[in-house]
Amino acid sequence: MKGTFVVWVEGKVKEVTNGRMNYQDVKYTQLSNKTEVCSRCCTPRKLFTCFFILIVTLIGLLVTCYSHTSICNKHDYQKVHIRLTKRRLPHCIIIGARKAGTRALLTYLKVHPDIQTAQYEVHFFDNQENYDFGYGWYRKQMPYSFPDQLTIEKSPAYFTESSVPGRVYSMNSTIKILLIVRDPVQRTISDQLQLNFKGLDMGLEVKPFEELVLNPKTGNIDMNFKPVQRSYYDVYMKNWLKYFPLNQIHIVDGDQLIADPYPEVYKVESFLGLRHAIPQSDFVYNATKGFYCIKTDTAYQKCLSGSKGRSHPHIQKEVIEKLKDVFWKHNENFFELVNQRFFWNNKTMASKIGK
Ligand code: A3P
Repeated sequence: MKGTFVVWVEGKVKEVTNGRMNYQDVKYTQLSNKTEVCSRCCTPRKLFTCFFILIVTLIGLLVTCYSHTSICNKHDYQKVHIRLTKRRLPHCIIIGARKAGTRALLTYLKVHPDIQTAQYEVHFFDNQENYDFGYGWYRKQMPYSFPDQLTIEKSPAYFTESSVPGRVYSMNSTIKILLIVRDPVQRTISDQLQLNFKGLDMGLEVKPFEELVLNPKTGNIDMNFKPVQRSYYDVYMKNWLKYFPLNQIHIVDGDQLIADPYPEVYKVESFLGLRHAIPQSDFVYNATKGFYCIKTDTAYQKCLSGSKGRSHPHIQKEVIEKLKDVFWKHNENFFELVNQRFFWNNKTMASKIGK
């Protein structure tokens, strides 16, 4: 072939002079300066056609994106600011309880096309330094969302910090609140286990649960031991109910969420006023993990990290019984406050599941 040609090689416009399409013959050029060399292979008409096809393809892709297809799901825009999306203060917060399944709940809800979730625990209302940064800072911690999507943030410390309900109320008195609770005995063990792992990371000595939870002088449960205290659900609930009516707080059963997450997530969708867009088939039981995982756009099964669903140490039966006794009255108070019973004080049910 004689003459000069402009060709498309490896995604770049290149020029070939006098001859075969030999790679050594190719040198980089800018298309705009070389329109005269396009006379044989790249006529203006051909270029226009290419440009036209490119534009049509781009428009097609954008239209596809807006109509929720799997090619370009709305969730992909968490970090990308595109038209119509912006960061919004949360419409809903998961306030706790710590170690009751807050991460699992958020992970499941994230699959919903009408929900965007904050990437990490923001600790806005419970951390004075963060709170002092103001609502503008808080909003900037939120993901980009479309106008018809709900933004959800979870920070489990919100439930137990006494100043939090008033602060949340001041920001948005109609915000929707999700609280997940779990058998307080199991939650307490899980809480201490988490602290043990943190301690190990820092090179600290780790003591057996029994030693930490019992008062060495009396042999009774140390009622001021933090992991025990954090399971007095009634105490914290009373504080939240000073600011918010019960119908603004939906309570998720954390033990049910472990055993069969779909019905619990279905109820949350209803509470949030959303369509039921997370089908039962999206929850996949993973026998190796021993927990449910969820199908997402990018993963056949998204399981929670290794720090969730740890196997608990064996705890002496007498200590379990003592904990149950301590929690019994708190549990009854809680059931009354929320007008809902959980199995924790139900001897038959508890013995059935070996707790
Ligand atoms: P354990 O690790 O003690 O089993 P949080 O996210 O609030 O810290 O709660 C952690 C708890 O979530 C875990 O406590 C686990 O029991 C529970 N959980 C519920 N669903 C889970 C899931 N699908 N995968 C892992 N853990 C889950």
